[in-house]
Parts: sequence; C-alpha cells; structure tokens
Amino acid sequence: MDVFGYLPEKEELAHWLTTEDAEAVSGLFAAALAARKAYRGSKVYLRGLIELSNICVKDCLYCGLRSSNRDVQRYELEDEKVYSEAMFAWKEHYGSLVIQSGERTDARFVDRITRLVRKIKELSSGRLGITLSCGEQRPEVYREWFEAGAHRYLLRIESSDPDLYRKIHPDNPKHSFDRRLACLGYLRDAGYKVGTGVMIGLPFQTPMQLAGDLLFFKNIDVDMVGMGPYLEHDRTPLYAFRNRIPSPERRLDLSLRMVALLRLLMPEINIAATTAMQVLDPLGREKAIMAGANVIMPNMTDPENRESYQIYNNKPGLKDDAAITKSRIVENLAAAGISIGWDEWGDSQKVH
Ligand code: 5AD
Ligand code: SF4
Repeated sequence: MDVFGYLPEKEELAHWLTTEDAEAVSGLFAAALAARKAYRGSKVYLRGLIELSNICVKDCLYCGLRSSNRDVQRYELEDEKVYSEAMFAWKEHYGSLVIQSGERTDARFVDRITRLVRKIKELSSGRLGITLSCGEQRPEVYREWFEAGAHRYLLRIESSDPDLYRKIHPDNPKHSFDRRLACLGYLRDAGYKVGTGVMIGLPFQTPMQLAGDLLFFKNIDVDMVGMGPYLEHDRTPLYAFRNRIPSPERRLDLSLRMVALLRLLMPEINIAATTAMQVLDPLGREKAIMAGANVIMPNMTDPENRESYQIYNNKPGLKDDAAITKSRIVENLAAAGISIGWDEWGDSQKVH
C-alpha cells in the first residue's frame, strides 16, 4: 500500500528532495503527518537504547567508533548493568528496548547476546520487546538470537548505492556491500521485523542516490527505517571532506523530507526520529515526528559511558542519565502535543 497511488520515479522523488518551493514542502510534511495518523494512529513509540559496547571490528570511514580510532576508551557493559537498564525500560513503560553494539562475531559475544536476550525476556515475563542492532552475522547467529527472543533487528545499509557505499568504507572483504545486503535477507528469513536505513548528506552523495535509497526501502519491503543526517567526526577519514557536505540546516531539511517521502511510500512501517537529527536542532526529532516519523529511542546509557559512544561529534545529553533523558523527551513530546504509546510494542503493520 502506498499513498502516492503509484510508484514514483527516482526523478520525481529527487525533485521533492531539492525543490525550493516552500509551500510544496509544507504540503509534503502535512500529507506525511496525515498518512502517519491514518495508518499508524497518533501515538509515538519508545524503545529504550542500551549501548552495550563500543568495541568494533570494523573501520567505517565516517564513524568515531572505528577500530583505527585509538582515542576511544573501549568498554563493555557488565551483565548486571544491562539488566538494570532493561528493568528501567520495563518499569518506565517503554514497551521495548534496543541493544546496540559495535560489531563483533566472536563466539563469546554471540553467546553473550543470546544469554542477555533470554534473561531480559524472562525478567519481563516475555513482554518487553527486544530489538538488536549488532551488525553483520552468520545466518545461524541471527536465528539463535531470534529463538532467544529478539524479534526486530536494525542493520542500516548506509547507502543503497554500491558506488557510494564503497567510497565511505575501506576496500576489503570486511566491508562488503553485497554481504550487508545478504544479511538483510538472512534477517528476514530468520523471522525478524527488519529495519535498515541510510545517512543523509554524506560527502559525494547526490539527491538521485537518496531517491534511490527510498525506492530501495520499498523494494526490499522493510518494516522499520532509521535514517538521519551524516555528522562529522574529527577522528575519521571522511572528516577531510567536511567542506563537501550540505550545511547543517540543509542536512536536517533533507532528512525531514526523506522521512516524509518514506511515510507516503510506506505508510504502515515504523520510521525513527533519530538522535542525529537532534544534534542539528534541539527539536529535530519532534520535527521528524511532525513529518511522519513515529518512533523515538531514548538513550539509557549511564553518563560514564556516553562519552565513549560517540559515533559522531556533539552527541547530545552526554551528562544525562536514563531518567533525565526520559523526562526531557516526555516534556518535549507533551509540549508538541504528541502522545506516547506506553507499554506498547507498536510494531509495523506490514504484511509481507
Ligand atoms: N554520522 C551520522 N551517523 C553515523 N553513523 C555512524 N557514523 C555516523 C556519522 N558520522 C550511523 C550509521 C550506523 C549507526 C550506528 O550510526 O548509520 O549504522
Ligand atoms: Fe563499527 Fe558501526 Fe561504527 Fe562501522 S558504523 S565502525 S560497524 S560501530
């Protein structure tokens, strides 16, 4: 189902991303908001975020956690800490949580995720929804984690254009576009609700490539999308190209237009208002919700570790704890007149 009524061509989508007709753009946002309300209701769903570990075997050229960055103090949360954050999500009625981590494929890591997922399910009598975001894994690993109780998985394609993908990753088998694409298929086969996404405003990226990303999401029929502006990090190779990216205002505007267009293309799915949007504008996430997004992921990491999970510079709320983060989000959403689906999974309504 899509509210366009037809599948738009890439050119048409690219036109929506670039038009300077302010009235047309406000019409786009209004249509997307109406589509969200019609297909998904008025509520926004929360997923408490656990940043499990910043240890990563990859070396993505844009990310502050890349393995070559020796300035990062690497950490791994203790089991007890993970359970107490999970219990925070449970007691505060978030409905779901996300376990995110740098990528690792060693057996110890794989077993640990399985154990954590099982235990969190048990602690919440099976009611807390669990999303994983732990990178590329073998199909059996995805199956094992699904059987343990995780039911959604986020794996961003970063860019659906293989040429651009190659420009922003090292040229080696650990960073293969084809493998990443294959992983999205393994996840679907394993039974997950599958989420993906891209960065917006990357060096070398064109509006036609972003339009292609939207059609890619539609084509692989995803359940969830998390996408946001690319943000510079001074300890990464892509920082050298910081003069070749759109202004912060333009990157936020592009991100909001991407959200709105996707809501019209895929009205039943979950679309996140991402933290990266909040970096460019304190109310960036609320604006994304008014442009069609319906999910927010409040960070539950303790201040002592937030400092070390900086995938980009200027990550907001570094000194806040889970409770402060929650109260800020609740206040901002209330001020914008947006209601929250407490204790609900709020899964995508898509039938495949
Ligand atoms: N700017 C914006 N998003 C980034 N990510 C990684 N580095 C950056 C950056 N510099 C995103 C990627 C990754 C997710 C965990 O964070 O899309 O999938
Ligand atoms: Fe690792 Fe993810 Fe950062 Fe790439 S984007 S370096 S996989 S944490």
